[in-house]
Amino acid sequence: AEVHEHEFIVQETPVTRLCKEHNIITVNGQFPGPTLEVREGDTLVINVVNHAQYNVSIHWHGIRQFRTGWADGPEFVTQCPIKPGGSYKYKFTIEGQEGTLWWHAHSSWLRATVYGALIIRPREGKPYPFDKKPSREFPILLGEWWDANPIDVIREAQRTGAAPNVSDAFTVNGQPGDLYNCSRQDTTAISGKPGETALLRFVNSALNHELFVSIAAHRMTVVGVDASYTKPFTTDVLMIAPGQTTDVLVTMDQPPATRYYVAARGYVTTQGVPFDNTTTTAVIEYDCGCATTKELGPVIPPAFPALPAFNDTGAATAFARGIKSPNKVEIPSPVDENLFLTVGLGLFNCEPGQLCGGPNNNTRFTASMNNVSFVFPNTDSLLHAHYYDIPGVFTTDFPAYPPVQFDYTAQNVSRGLWQPVPATKLYKLRFGSVVQIVLQDTSIVSPENHPIHIHGYDFLILAEGFGNYDAEKDAQKFNLENPPQRNTVAVPVNGWAVIRFRADNPGVWLMHCHLDVHITWGLAMAFLVEDGYGELETLQAPPVDLPMC
Ligand code: C2O
Repeated sequence: AEVHEHEFIVQETPVTRLCKEHNIITVNGQFPGPTLEVREGDTLVINVVNHAQYNVSIHWHGIRQFRTGWADGPEFVTQCPIKPGGSYKYKFTIEGQEGTLWWHAHSSWLRATVYGALIIRPREGKPYPFDKKPSREFPILLGEWWDANPIDVIREAQRTGAAPNVSDAFTVNGQPGDLYNCSRQDTTAISGKPGETALLRFVNSALNHELFVSIAAHRMTVVGVDASYTKPFTTDVLMIAPGQTTDVLVTMDQPPATRYYVAARGYVTTQGVPFDNTTTTAVIEYDCGCATTKELGPVIPPAFPALPAFNDTGAATAFARGIKSPNKVEIPSPVDENLFLTVGLGLFNCEPGQLCGGPNNNTRFTASMNNVSFVFPNTDSLLHAHYYDIPGVFTTDFPAYPPVQFDYTAQNVSRGLWQPVPATKLYKLRFGSVVQIVLQDTSIVSPENHPIHIHGYDFLILAEGFGNYDAEKDAQKFNLENPPQRNTVAVPVNGWAVIRFRADNPGVWLMHCHLDVHITWGLAMAFLVEDGYGELETLQAPPVDLPMC
């Protein structure tokens, strides 16, 4: 195994998109940021130096960080932010994970431009476990582009209590693509010889949109999600939620003179709320030595794929159901901790003198889990306060159940969930305990899919469904054979998902909705996983350069 050392300079960089020049925050002047390429078992040492005028921290999304929670990155959770002029060295080893992950800023909305791919290949000499071996690989980061400074957008929304503005375009590897005049030259190209198979590593790094992806004329074989292999299955469309990754094999088996679009657009289930209704493209070009439609110029545009309608929940569900683990999975059991968590938006009634930009002009948006709207501390990080027993930073009374039973069929849908309580509440887990969580979407304010992400863990998705979760009936439908393993689950709109994992990684681990506007509004909680007794069951000591508040 190798040790890879990198320096990440967070800085302001001018870039031109949608015909306008902007200063954005980047790593090393690159947008998207540098791709990290490692093998399973390797160690990464990344010195992050902050030359920007914002506080920043970097999260290595999906990395287990076994015993190295100090390197996980979310600000005020596992570290205080790196202040302008400061630096912090993240050090961690990648164990038992192969596939595609990514890294992103975990401070305010900086991740709009501060993100990159993290590719984990099998150990030297160990082949990919799929039949068709790819001869080419492409990371494909899907993002959102904002004409405005994203930090200003969210600050303004927080001031007024309103929903923030939506992005102005989606991007593929930082480029809006062919459908925009001024970026046609820079459209991301995927090339290969006729007959070759390419591994496309998709990441949804967009802030606030789940995305559908299709490729003209080519089918995709899904072989991995969130750095876990899957049972290969072939599909025409992917649905990737923010935080999730999807690895697909594509064989270049179509007429080589034509070019083919890879296209992505939003999957949006809210009603009457503005969203980014644009489409972004990359293009597949055959490297065939023949006259292609590119030479023939704009006369022959590339072939365009059929994308599902923006609100096609059927397509999203069908795709999610197709994902399975490749082999029989050992299911952690028996369950020691049974949690039932409502996830969704709520509204605060305005106090006198407050701005009230929410619905009906007398409310402000909020979001919660079990009616607790998560408040990030600002005097210390949760992990530091836990490690040194510093009181007053958090409490450990996060409720295992909602205060009122949630019921879609009730006349007056759980009014009690409309006014969440802002607090910093953690849920304590004994080392090694088996945790099952029912994530019940509430759709009280607006029907929405919520991508729920856990730091420090992969979990098994045992079942998903619509309506109220019914403990007796729905437990019969659990996939205890080959459930998919992920770090982010898209909880179906007006529905639920059941996840399970063993709490074998000590530390403080954030769980939150990966739509950034929802984490801003408090759709988060954190687990405090206690140390075990064994030598390899305890959190390591904090690094000497851990940023303090
Ligand atoms: Cu990808 Cu808490 O984040």
